[in-house]
Amino acid sequence: MRKIYLVFIVVMAVIMSSCSYNVYVPEEAPPIDSTKVFSLATDVQPIFDGKCVSCHGDTKGLHLEAENAYDNIVPNNVNLEIPEESLIYEYPSPSGLHSGPKYTAEEAQIVLQWIKQGALNN
Ligand code: HEC
Repeated sequence: MRKIYLVFIVVMAVIMSSCSYNVYVPEEAPPIDSTKVFSLATDVQPIFDGKCVSCHGDTKGLHLEAENAYDNIVPNNVNLEIPEESLIYEYPSPSGLHSGPKYTAEEAQIVLQWIKQGALNN
């Protein structure tokens, strides 16, 4: 009886330890101040300037330089009904499909909050 119990424990330990590598752990997003008003110009644009315009500027497809970002994002790349499904948020998010660089968890939250607040040209 003892032996079966021991075998059971060993088997469970093996199963549990092998599973732990498959468990999806979502990246912990830092808390964000939801009372703050997020601005395209001062909160979102610096993200684009820092890691997006090197590709999304000039003549190729999506333009994210300050003078073009708003017109290129709104209304086509935001979903005001379901902000989480906005292309400009979802695609370059940490778990998104973008082939280029992605937002950090915090940058993704900033973009999402800005969309949730109406994706204003503010
Ligand atoms: C190294 C070049 C490069 C950089 C830098 C880059 N991207 Fe991209 N992006 C691409 C390419 C190439 C595509 C085409 C689709 C793909 O490969 O994912 C794309 C596609 C996209 C799309 C989908 C556009 C569409 O109409 O389908 C979005 C949204 C996007 N990028 C946002 C961003 C954001 C936001 C940043 C900055 C965090 C960024 N990209 C930085 C190369 C880049």
